[in-house]
Amino acid sequence: RADDSLRALGARQDLRIGTAVDDAHLGSDAAYTGIVADQFSVVTAENAMKWESVEPTRGSYDWAAADRLVRFAQQNDQSVRGHTLLWHNQLPSWLTTGVADGTIGTAELRDILRKHVTDEVTRYRGKIWQWDVANEVFANSWDPNPLPNGLNGDDFWIKNLGEGVIADVFRWAHQADPKALLFYNDYNIAGQDGSNAKFQAVHDFFAKLVAQGVPVNGIGEQGHLDTQYGFDAQRFQADLQSYGDLGLKVAVTEADVRTFVNNSTEQVPTSQLAAFAQPFEFSEMLKGCQLVRQCISFTAWGVYDGDSWIPGTFAGTGYGLLYDVAMKPKPAYYALQQDL
Ligand code: XIL
Repeated sequence: RADDSLRALGARQDLRIGTAVDDAHLGSDAAYTGIVADQFSVVTAENAMKWESVEPTRGSYDWAAADRLVRFAQQNDQSVRGHTLLWHNQLPSWLTTGVADGTIGTAELRDILRKHVTDEVTRYRGKIWQWDVANEVFANSWDPNPLPNGLNGDDFWIKNLGEGVIADVFRWAHQADPKALLFYNDYNIAGQDGSNAKFQAVHDFFAKLVAQGVPVNGIGEQGHLDTQYGFDAQRFQADLQSYGDLGLKVAVTEADVRTFVNNSTEQVPTSQLAAFAQPFEFSEMLKGCQLVRQCISFTAWGVYDGDSWIPGTFAGTGYGLLYDVAMKPKPAYYALQQDL
């Protein structure tokens, strides 16, 4: 393994560098697999540990893809970020349908969730470094029904089980694997322009949970940025530090910086933005993490531009990762290498 790999450089400062891994490429695509093994010291399953993946049919688990990743990580001396236990997206349809048509009531839903958390965390007990226990339950400025504390009142879990469910999933996860670091994970919760209200809500909510002794160990800022809007590098670092000051670990968990493809609202031609803004923003996120003692990992959400959630989710954007469509390292890769 080269001394100038991201993982080797990160190791010198006790910082793990990670990527999300797509089960469809791992093992079958040699170039992809080589990059994952050589460059990264922590891996996240892009989809394989989500509820719809592990329990597509009620009561029958399919751990095959998740097991593959955990085994790969062990073989390559990598840690694993478990992702994710409580989330409103990528739920199995038997669950959402059952709740919608009333065949699954509140008490049963709570039992089902507890069993899901317990079974999944127990299966990988001792093998997961950080779990994203709860994901994206806070309201954005555009969400119509925020609760007074900033939680999203329309979130599937909060709506159906009440806001106490957040503390409960952390307790259940902790019972199943007392040594795993338990994270809350979300986007736009550090370094946002404007009021930064979502940061404040998350901060205050978890300050309270920590004070109550709920087993929360960390906050993950996803770090989905773009080359145009709303990122304040100083504030990014300050916000991560504020989470750290609560006695929590911090991680950047899903970094990508999407660029605008043929978008006329772009102030500067796309090629120039891609050349400067993207490595700059990756670099600023990494530096923010490096300057916060409690920040323990920095993960990109995917390996290369040919396999990324970005173009399918944000129309007109793409090319947000560290390697290009030909799996060659991009300026953003070299920027991180330089910073490390
Ligand atoms: C995305 C995956 O990258 C896609 O492959 C999938 O179709 C949808 O989910 N926030 C998260 C991640 O926490 O789980 C999401 O991953 C991206 C946004």
